[in-house]
Amino acid sequence: MGVEGEKRRAAEAAGELVEDGMLVGLGTGTTVAFLLVAIARRAPTAVFVASSPRTEQAARTLGLRVHPFDAIERLDLAIDGADQIAPGGWLIKGGGGALTREKVVAAAADRFVVIADATKLVDALHAPVPLELSPFGLAATIRRLGACDVRNAPASPDGGVIADYRGPVTAPGELARLLSATPGVIAHGLFEPELVSELLVGVGATVRHTIIGAAP
Ligand code: A5P
Repeated sequence: MGVEGEKRRAAEAAGELVEDGMLVGLGTGTTVAFLLVAIARRAPTAVFVASSPRTEQAARTLGLRVHPFDAIERLDLAIDGADQIAPGGWLIKGGGGALTREKVVAAAADRFVVIADATKLVDALHAPVPLELSPFGLAATIRRLGACDVRNAPASPDGGVIADYRGPVTAPGELARLLSATPGVIAHGLFEPELVSELLVGVGATVRHTIIGAAP
């Protein structure tokens, strides 16, 4: 119950940030599931975009207005979970395989708020780093990456293969550049601090609020 309570409290704090008239990006995962309930309870007249079919379906079931994310140019706010959060604000995301769309949503938002329980706080990021790979040339891409396993998981909604990079993550910036520059890598789960505005982390009965980057 401890971890679940921390997730719920972080999610409820983030739910308070959603206001009438906002365009809001929704992440994916068990912490976001608490967020959806918290938002639906307040029933703001906001428009939402979802980073996965899972989230879209859950949000619609709760009565939230979900729009496709093809013609919306920017979002006021995006809220999502994380698998690992390092002290400077680097994240690893994609444990649920939704990393590509999650990154697109986060990057489109003026304010990207990460919600998590305290188990996600790490001193330093470590493998695995989730990847979405192009099915075309898959074996060649994996060979080039070296330490990389294809995950036993469904393809992404965009047809990508979900995999995990298992090499060292000692220098996240360098690794992010390397992965981004590898042909066949559609996206990786390293999220740089520049993408992140704030962290809301449930720690016991409290929610720790940390500012990472500037919000407008
Ligand atoms: C989904 O692909 C992930 O990025 C999630 O945001 C991350 O795995 C956190 O998930 P939980 O909230 O379920 O821990």
